[in-house]
Amino acid sequence: MGVYCGRWSVVVVRPEAGLVFALDDRCKHRQVPLSRGMVSGTFIRCLLWAMRS
Ligand code: FES
Repeated sequence: MGVYCGRWSVVVVRPEAGLVFALDDRCKHRQVPLSRGMVSGTFIRCLLWAMRS
């Protein structure tokens, strides 16, 4: 889920196991919003990266 925290866009992730966590809502590679990605196990996968695999 993507949310704004002030001027920052943040993705809040509820993994299949473990604690909820939040990250900057962009991947390090091409700045794609991680909030458009997929939760996989205990991490979130970039949408563009997932489309390539
Ligand atoms: S484009 Fe997001 S990880 Fe490569």
